Amino acid sequence: MMTEKEIMAGLKAVLSPGRWAHTLSVARWAETLARLHGANPAKARLAGLLHDCAKEVPGPVQADLVKKWRLPVPDAPFILETGHLGLFHAHVSAATAERTYGVKDKAVLAAVAAHTLGADKMSVLDKVVYVADFSAPQRRYPEAAAIRRVARRSLDDAFRETVRWKLTHALHAGAAVHPQTVRTWNRYRRKES
Ligand SMILES: [Fe+2]
Ligand SMILES: [Fe+2]
Repeated sequence: MMTEKEIMAGLKAVLSPGRWAHTLSVARWAETLARLHGANPAKARLAGLLHDCAKEVPGPVQADLVKKWRLPVPDAPFILETGHLGLFHAHVSAATAERTYGVKDKAVLAAVAAHTLGADKMSVLDKVVYVADFSAPQRRYPEAAAIRRVARRSLDDAFRETVRWKLTHALHAGAAVHPQTVRTWNRYRRKES
């Protein structure tokens, strides 16, 4: 694996200034959340740094990489049909973290892969990175500040609220909802006992 310094230099060279600022903000916030909620801070920071490393790869190229590398993207046909090719970026980023940046840690790679759609089974680290991406201090929408407040107290509540926001936002926009977002919601919503 590269050193963190090498990874940061590599990312800075390929990401736009805005994405780089987002990346740093997510990495720092993920590290803080990990300390608060018992995940490994170094892993959270590394996953935060790499979570969007392939986000600026053009959508059709991402689709090709998913095929070529046989990445386990949930409901890939849905993504191709709807044309929201950007939804490939989490898995392509995880694969790039491994192939280009030499990250071997499966927990880190899983957290990168799950940061947009969630997953059927999510670790504390996965939730930390998912929440950190949505609520990083660099985010300008008001929900980010609200989720940050919740996240300091309860990672699970912040995670649920983030999934809920993504779902409702998509519905309000009249957009298609990726089936994994629905599954993540159904799995992690607050259940009445
Ligand atoms: Fe992302
Ligand atoms: Fe992001």
